[in-house]
Amino acid sequence: MKIAVFAGDGIGPEVTEQAVRVLQALGLPGLELVEGDVGGMAYRKHGHPLPPETLETARASDAILFGAVGDFDCDNLERHLRPEQAILGLRKELGLFANLRPAKVFAGLEDFSALRPEVAGAIDLLIVRELNGDVYFGDKGIETLPDGTRRGWDMMSYSEAEVRRIAHAGFRAARTRGGKLCSVDKANVLETSQVWRDTVIAVAADYPDVELSHMYVDNAAMQLVRSPGSFDVIVTGNLFGDILSDQASMCVGSIGLLASASLAEGSFGLYEPIHGSAPDIAGKGLANPMATILSAAMLLRHSLGLEEQAARIEAAVASALTDGVRGGDLGGSHGTAAIGQAVLERL
Ligand code: IPM
Ligand code: MG
Repeated sequence: MKIAVFAGDGIGPEVTEQAVRVLQALGLPGLELVEGDVGGMAYRKHGHPLPPETLETARASDAILFGAVGDFDCDNLERHLRPEQAILGLRKELGLFANLRPAKVFAGLEDFSALRPEVAGAIDLLIVRELNGDVYFGDKGIETLPDGTRRGWDMMSYSEAEVRRIAHAGFRAARTRGGKLCSVDKANVLETSQVWRDTVIAVAADYPDVELSHMYVDNAAMQLVRSPGSFDVIVTGNLFGDILSDQASMCVGSIGLLASASLAEGSFGLYEPIHGSAPDIAGKGLANPMATILSAAMLLRHSLGLEEQAARIEAAVASALTDGVRGGDLGGSHGTAAIGQAVLERL
């Protein structure tokens, strides 16, 4: 069992360190952790945010535990050298097309939600976001027009094959949960979404036991704050999923609690907290490592088949929260290491 650990930028190293402590505490026989450089720190060291040796380490591993990338000092670099290209490159190069982003309110944290507690308490949803296509990876560019002003473009597209495999991932996920799948698109305006919707409907024939619905993304954004408890699994494209998953995190209370899995065909996956590098609090020991610890739990479950150990970690985090262990993101005073320690003790 070889896990690549790519801590990255900002708070990435701090939160990843705590998740690694938790993984090591399980004493799994044959577990090997290999580090690699990604993001702005990799650019500074190797001249590229995703150096070839990092990609090799990734390919030679069973799963990746990822911290965060992003660094204001790199924002003026050419786009292909910016820190974000590390995560986008890993997703594309390794065929990590299915992004699972669960959002559930932990008992006792209802008051931290941006929504009323009784609305927040009902949230238990999973966003299944497509990661390899859409406007993220289409033809893009900036041109200067004859009048000297600029025009930028990013091409949005989805092929039936791309939609089919993420639709299957959505239906399969719905089967293991509440049996409801909501496909989110913008089929009233976009041709890309028309192909998306038609394809999802075709795939639905294989899943008569799953209740399928469709929603335009603007309505979905509204329903996510109006009655988030009515969602079970949401399947959507790369851009809409990016936006809706950040929104879902605030419905839950803190972006510091949300884990994610990015899966390839088979068991290989990359696991990362959905928060970013948070440069404003980096290096201060203030970041909440729970999202990364919960990502490590998802890694054990999805890539290594260790359901029991995954559930133990999740229970330890929940119990720490119940006992009042709170990071600054939840109005508390526990620092990164103290939260890691609290989870370890309960494990
Ligand atoms: C995410 C992030 C990334 C994305 C960035 C860092 C490229 O926002 O994982 O949601 O847009 O996918
Ligand atoms: Mg995002």
